[in-house]
Amino acid sequence: MSSKAKSGSRAKKKADAPDLFGASGGKPVEKLTEAEARRELEHLATEVAEHDRAYFERDAPVISDADYDALKRRNSAIEARFPKLIRPDSPSHRVGAKPSEKFAKVVHRVPMLSLDNAFSDEDVAEFVARIRRFLGLKDEQDVVFTAEPKIDGLSASLRYEKGVFVQGATRGDGAEGEDITANLRTIKDIPLRLHGKAPEVLEVRGEVYMTHANFAALNRRQEKEGKPTYANPRNSAAGSVRQLDPSITAARDLNFFAYTWGEVSKLPADTQWGMLEAFKAFGFRVNPLVRHCETTKQILKFYSDIESKRAKLGYDIDGVVYKVDDLKLQDRLGFVSRSPRWAIAHKFAAEQAETILEKIDIQVGRTGKLTPVARLKPITVGGVVVENATLHNEDEIARLDAREGDTVIIQRAGDVIPQVVKVLTDKRPRGSRPYPFPHTCPICHSHAVREVDEKTGKEDVDRRCTGGLICAAQAVERLKHFVGRDAFDIEGFGGTYIETLHEAGMLKEPADIFQLAKQPAKLGKVLAAKRAEQSAERRAREGKDAVETKSKKKDEGEGKLVENLVAAIDARRRIGLDRFINALGIRHVGETNARLLARNFHSIDAFVEAMEGDDALEQLNAIGGIGDVVAEAIKDFFDEPHNRKLLDHLLKEVDVQDVAAPKIKGSPVAGKTVVFTGSLEKMTRQEAKVKAESLGAKTAGSVSKKTDLVVAGPGAGSKLTDAQKFGVKVIDEDAWLAMIKGL
Ligand code: IVH
Repeated sequence: MSSKAKSGSRAKKKADAPDLFGASGGKPVEKLTEAEARRELEHLATEVAEHDRAYFERDAPVISDADYDALKRRNSAIEARFPKLIRPDSPSHRVGAKPSEKFAKVVHRVPMLSLDNAFSDEDVAEFVARIRRFLGLKDEQDVVFTAEPKIDGLSASLRYEKGVFVQGATRGDGAEGEDITANLRTIKDIPLRLHGKAPEVLEVRGEVYMTHANFAALNRRQEKEGKPTYANPRNSAAGSVRQLDPSITAARDLNFFAYTWGEVSKLPADTQWGMLEAFKAFGFRVNPLVRHCETTKQILKFYSDIESKRAKLGYDIDGVVYKVDDLKLQDRLGFVSRSPRWAIAHKFAAEQAETILEKIDIQVGRTGKLTPVARLKPITVGGVVVENATLHNEDEIARLDAREGDTVIIQRAGDVIPQVVKVLTDKRPRGSRPYPFPHTCPICHSHAVREVDEKTGKEDVDRRCTGGLICAAQAVERLKHFVGRDAFDIEGFGGTYIETLHEAGMLKEPADIFQLAKQPAKLGKVLAAKRAEQSAERRAREGKDAVETKSKKKDEGEGKLVENLVAAIDARRRIGLDRFINALGIRHVGETNARLLARNFHSIDAFVEAMEGDDALEQLNAIGGIGDVVAEAIKDFFDEPHNRKLLDHLLKEVDVQDVAAPKIKGSPVAGKTVVFTGSLEKMTRQEAKVKAESLGAKTAGSVSKKTDLVVAGPGAGSKLTDAQKFGVKVIDEDAWLAMIKGL
C-alpha cells in the first residue's frame, strides 16, 4: 500500500517535510536485543493494523501518511536485522485495500486547485498589496473582495448538463478525483435538477460537510451499534461520501455549500458575488455569512467577526477565504503554481496542547539537511493524535532551550506538521542538560556543517551532512523524491521498497529502478528471500501443513506484486521534461523552477547542452523567476561528474518528452523571446510578462542577440541601447497591446 493510495484523506506529505519516524526513530535498530525486537515487531503489527482499520474502514486516520510509512519502514528495518522474527501478520506482507480503486476515476476538465494560506494580518496585507502591485493600481483605485468562511469538509465538483445533475466527484489530487455521483445524489442540498435557466454545462464546486449536531448523533448511533466512532466532522463527512453503498450516505445527513465552479459553458455573472447569487437561484445553498470587503481593514474585521462566531456556527470552519470579486481581474491575476493569485485562505490560529518531549531525533533529508524531530508523549490536539513534532533546526532548539524530558506546548494547524512552540521550564526535571546538536551525520558520520553565505558572511540556519554522495540517508531520500508524486510518480513504489532494495545493494541510482523492471526475477528474489525466512519461522510455529497452503497463496500474491511494480515502473519510461527536471533533485529546484526551466529549454538535450556551455549561468539568469542562488545550484549540479554520469544512465532508460511552447492560436510571440523594459502605463511589468508567457513567449531580463522583441516604455535605458546594437525589433506599449489584442 503506497502513501499515494492513501493520500485522499490522510494529511498530505509535504515535499520537504521531515519524516517523523525515520531510520533513526526509537532505539537504533542495530542496538536492539532480540527480545526487544520481538516485542517491537509485535507492537508494530498491532499498531499498523489499527491504523489500516482507522483509515480504510472508518476513514478516520489518526496519523499522517509520513508517520504511517515510517512505522512500516521501522518494521522492515527490524525484520531485515532479525529475519527469523518476521511474523505471519507482519505489516510488510499486508497490501491494504486501495480506497482509490473503490470508485471510478473522474478527470477534472478544469483542475480543482488549492489556496495559498495566510496566517497573520501581515500575510493578508501582503496579499492585498501583491494584488495591487500586480495590477498596478493607483492609491485611489479600490479592489473589491468577497470574504467567505472556509468550510472544513470535503470539496466536491458537481456537473450539470442541460440543468441535470450528471456526475459528482471528489477533488482527489486536483487533476483526477473519484466518481461519487450516487452518494452525492442523496444529499438534500444538492439539486438533482437546476431551477431557472442554467448554462448548458455547469460544474458547481463546494464543500460537503457535516453539522456538529449530525456528527454527534452519528457517533451516538455508531457507539450504540458497537461500531467505531469518527474523530471529527470532516473525517465523518469524508467517510460518509466514500461509502460504496449510497443508502449509508443517505442515512448520514450531510450538507453542501456552493462557493466556486469548474467548467461552465457561459458564465451567468461577472463577479464572484454574482456567481454565488446565480448558484442560489439555481437551487444551491450558499453560505449566508459571505460579505463584500474593500480594504484590508474591512477584511480583518470580517475575520475577527467570523472567529468570534465560530463556536456557535454549528459546523466546522478553519479560516476565511478572500477572493477578488471581479472575474475580469481574476483572469488578469491568474495563477501561481497551483493556487490562484486572486484568492487566499486566512487560517484560524492553531490549536495547542501540553505534553512531554520524550526524545529528540535527527533526520537527514535528501540535501543533507539535519532536521530535529521531537518524539512526544502522544496527545490529542483538535481530534488528532500527535506523537511527533518538528523542532525545525539547531537555532530553534537553542532558542526554545528544548531538552529531552521537558514539558512542552505543541501547536497544530490543519495539515501542517505540528511544532513545539514553548518549553515550560518550571516543569523541567532536575539534572536535565541542554540538547547537544550533533556535528556529524547520524547516518554516514561525515561532518555536518552550517554553510556560510559568501556575500553576507551569515551562517545558514540548517546544518548539513557533507557526506553528499556517500551518505546513505541522502541517497535514499533522493531516490524517494525521484519516485515521488511530483516527480516520476511511480505508483506503489514507496519508501519501504526503496529502503529494502537500497539495503540489498540493488538500488543505488535512479536508473537502477528501470534496470530492476527488466529483471523481475531479481526483484522477486528479494521478496522471496524474505518469504523463505518467514516460512521457516511459521513452520516452527504452526506445523508443515499450515505453511504449505499459506505459502502457495503468498506466491500468487507476490508474483502479482512484482508484476504490478514492473508495470508501474514501465508506465513511467516516458516523462515530461518538467517532471524529469524536478525528479533530478537539484537543490532549490522544485516543481515551479523545474517548470520554468522546461518551458525555457523545451528539450532535455537543449537543457543539458546549455548547462555544459560556458554561458550556462547567463542563460539561467536570463530566465524570469530564476535567481542567482538557484542558477548557481543548477550549475553546481551539472559541474559534478557523478551527476552527469547518473543523468546519462537515466537517459538510456527513459524517454523525456519535449515541452512545446504553448501554441496559442494566432499568437505572434509563441516561441519568441520578449524583453520588457522602461515603465509601462497600462499594466505592470509582471503582468505583461505573465501575459506574454501565457501566449507562448519566453521572457528574459536582459537583451542579447537571441532576443526577438523588446517592448520599451518611457525611461528605457541600456536594454534599449542593447536592442539597437543587436538589431532587435523594438515596439512601445501601445503597439504591444495592439499586437496581442483579443488573445
Ligand atoms: S475556493 C481555486 N472557497 O479550501 C480555489 N474554497 O485550500 C477554489 N474551501 O479545496 C477554492 N471553503 O475544499 C474556496 N469558501 C471557500 C471554501 C473553500 C472551503 C476549501 C476547498 C479547497 C480548500 C483550499
